[in-house]
Amino acid sequence: MVIERLEHSEYAVSCCDGAKGLLQLPDKSIKLVYGSPPYPNAERDYGIWKSSEYIEKISPFIDASVKKLREDGFLVINIKANREKATSKTSTKRSLVVERLAIMLEEHWSLHCVDIEIWVKENPVPTGLRVACQDAYEQNLWFSLSPKWTINLDDIRRPYESHSVKTYEGYEYKPRSNGLSYVRKNKRIQPHPLGALPTNIIQGGVSSRILGHQAAQPLYLPEKYIKATTSPGDLVVDPWMGSGTTGVAALSLKRKFIGFDLVEQHVSDAEKRFRALF
Ligand SMILES: C[S@@+](CC[C@H](N)C(=O)[O-])C[C@H]1O[C@@H](n2cnc3c(N)ncnc32)[C@H](O)[C@@H]1O
Repeated sequence: MVIERLEHSEYAVSCCDGAKGLLQLPDKSIKLVYGSPPYPNAERDYGIWKSSEYIEKISPFIDASVKKLREDGFLVINIKANREKATSKTSTKRSLVVERLAIMLEEHWSLHCVDIEIWVKENPVPTGLRVACQDAYEQNLWFSLSPKWTINLDDIRRPYESHSVKTYEGYEYKPRSNGLSYVRKNKRIQPHPLGALPTNIIQGGVSSRILGHQAAQPLYLPEKYIKATTSPGDLVVDPWMGSGTTGVAALSLKRKFIGFDLVEQHVSDAEKRFRALF
């Protein structure tokens, strides 16, 4: 059993369907399920999940995650809504299945939306689209099992912009006469020593192919959510492990990690990356 391997190691991987893998784990044992499923309508070497069948295909993963998350656990799904194929009579339209999934996470699975964050890609792959604008972002659906949650905001603070530091230095905040201000009396605000509060936009480059995987993520994506929602020693699980980016981020931050993938080659490549960390 994959969970027993964690008694002697910081990580365990298995080549199997991720939903079935999740079901092998003890109930309420996972602090964070983080993963990037096959994107709707994307043709990859691991198959295609069409938007028309997307909810049916992803449902077993969400069912299993909800069962296995701790009461204070989180689910983060990184996903991009690909477009429907054009026909002679229709333009290629953007699939709304990601929005449908987000609504179902709340209404069907009773999860609570922390946020839908946006990953803005600085170097998006050109699509050559002529019926819509260049596709340059993905969504991170961030949900909590509990309606009341805590996150480690201080661990994901960001450097201040130089103009905000200047504003802090020279500006005295005053209460607004309409009372709609957080400031009760005139005061100067000091910059926080750990940096500015994080925003719900993540900006950065797309990874180049890692170990031959077609959809490897940059490390900074899982890192943000692992830092925000888990502590050292907590269990992070990725049911669509791919090249193992989530595992590398989790293990580097001293969390435990379990990963599943259907493709044998991905599992052995990911395991090689993990072994190299110790
Ligand atoms: C978008 S990729 C994930 C990439 C990964 N986040 C990384 O950084 O390399 C999706 C992965 O899901 C895997 N996959 C597809 N169907 C699966 C299933 N039923 N169970 C587990 N993994 C699956 C694919 O083999 C692929 O590696």
